[in-house]
Amino acid sequence: MIAMNKKNQNAFQLPNQKNATKRTKETVYSSFALEEDARLLGRGKQYYIKTYGCQANVRDSETMAGLFEMMGFSEADTLENADIILFNTCAVRRAAELHVLGEIGSLKHFKNEHPDKLLGICGCMAQEDAVVDEVLKKYPQVDMIFGTHNLHRLPQLIIDWYKEHKKIVEVFSEEGRVIEDLPVKRTMDAKGFVNIMYGCNKFCTYCIVPYTRGKERSRKVEDIIAEIKELQLSGRKEVVLLGQNVNAYGKDIHMEDGFTKLLESCAETGIERIRFYTSHPRDYSPTTIDIMQKYPNVMKSLHLPVQSGSNEILRRMARGYTVDQYKKLFDEMKAKIPEITFTTDLIVGFPGETDEQFQQTLDLVRYCRFDLAYSFVYSPRSGTPAASMKDDIPPEVKKERLHILNDLLAEIANENNQKYLHKHLKVLCEGRSKKNKDVYSGYSEENKLVNFRGEEGLENRIVDVEITNVHSFSLDGKAL
Ligand code: SAH
Ligand code: SF4
Ligand code: F3S
Repeated sequence: MIAMNKKNQNAFQLPNQKNATKRTKETVYSSFALEEDARLLGRGKQYYIKTYGCQANVRDSETMAGLFEMMGFSEADTLENADIILFNTCAVRRAAELHVLGEIGSLKHFKNEHPDKLLGICGCMAQEDAVVDEVLKKYPQVDMIFGTHNLHRLPQLIIDWYKEHKKIVEVFSEEGRVIEDLPVKRTMDAKGFVNIMYGCNKFCTYCIVPYTRGKERSRKVEDIIAEIKELQLSGRKEVVLLGQNVNAYGKDIHMEDGFTKLLESCAETGIERIRFYTSHPRDYSPTTIDIMQKYPNVMKSLHLPVQSGSNEILRRMARGYTVDQYKKLFDEMKAKIPEITFTTDLIVGFPGETDEQFQQTLDLVRYCRFDLAYSFVYSPRSGTPAASMKDDIPPEVKKERLHILNDLLAEIANENNQKYLHKHLKVLCEGRSKKNKDVYSGYSEENKLVNFRGEEGLENRIVDVEITNVHSFSLDGKAL
């Protein structure tokens, strides 16, 4: 059980990115229990959480929603109707941060008119020294800032705020623990996210995540399996295993070949579909490919970020592999599982990237012919090693490179998708498409987004769909 610190409620606990780099071996486990005086706190009140960033944040928001509901709050349908508004933020690029700061800026008037409403920031931006400094100076409308390591403290922080309406800043810059028994309110009916590990020890030179999320620490196999069984019981068909670098699973708890063993145990539960994000080429174990091959419920698609096609840039990013090593891994997987689909992440305009180095990224894209890639212009992150590297590439050049890369990616994705025309794919129906209510949308086993027509009541079913048209990043079809 976690001891609640009631004394210290008026002092700010600011982030300290330097402390956040500490890494020790042992993983600390604890379990959550709700304070008695938080139980009825939310009766008649509503909460609203706006989530940015990756699946880790989506899953954290589901935990916070669970905590709110345990306290008796209900979910507001709009931000304006809520008594508590939380922005669960992402720090991975400056553009994402500016977006959140813009939204918070626009709420100044609203907050002045409603001083009783609580406006809070949490998530990865809250773990950054410079951001918290900026928010405290320029955004007085923010009442509460808390980080990624203290979600479990949310009830106590809310108790404290309701007592005096005093600004609260509580950010732990530590390696983090594994906290079990937190509640969850799932946002998706067909599938569920399951954290298998938290944090990252890789310290790629451009990346803020190891500072905002703490050290790599694994949940216990039995806790993960219990969560999957819960998802199964609730009728969900797919589980998505989450970690910044899932292939490092188990290292901190002295498990040999931990991810492969875990994946096999997950497959043995019999849940219809298993996916996992994100894999790191450096830690990839060949035995994982064998498990993917052996179990039909482990989906044959892999997100394997490569970042760049230049050895020199990969070295300066501290990625820990060369282009040839990446290609070798890629070839091995394609050889063992020919139908496997590949997605990746790419960064252009890393400090000092020459045109030739950029061309090498294009060459790698032509070699791997990715099904989809998330491509980004490099964004300097305060406190990371790359932020102090000399960067003399003009912003227009970086933008131009992104355009060229995106055009190539779209062309290749479109060519790849031609093979699905008139084929039958198995699609897990997630519900009506957000863009067009006349069609359903969902993902095929290959992880292709499919929009399709069909009779009523297909939600949360695995549907045979005939593909009638293909685009670069989605397929159209009709249910059979
Ligand atoms: N753990 C995952 C990635 C998490 S961040 C992995 O290692 O693959 C998701 C993606 O954001 C990264 O793969 C990278 O392509 C991109 N990214 C991270 N930091 C960035 C930065 N400073 N500028 C631009 N893109 C960045
Ligand atoms: Fe960031 Fe690298 Fe860790 Fe991925 S592996 S979260 S890119 S430091
Ligand atoms: Fe963003 Fe934090 Fe995820 S920085 S990408 S929300 S781990």
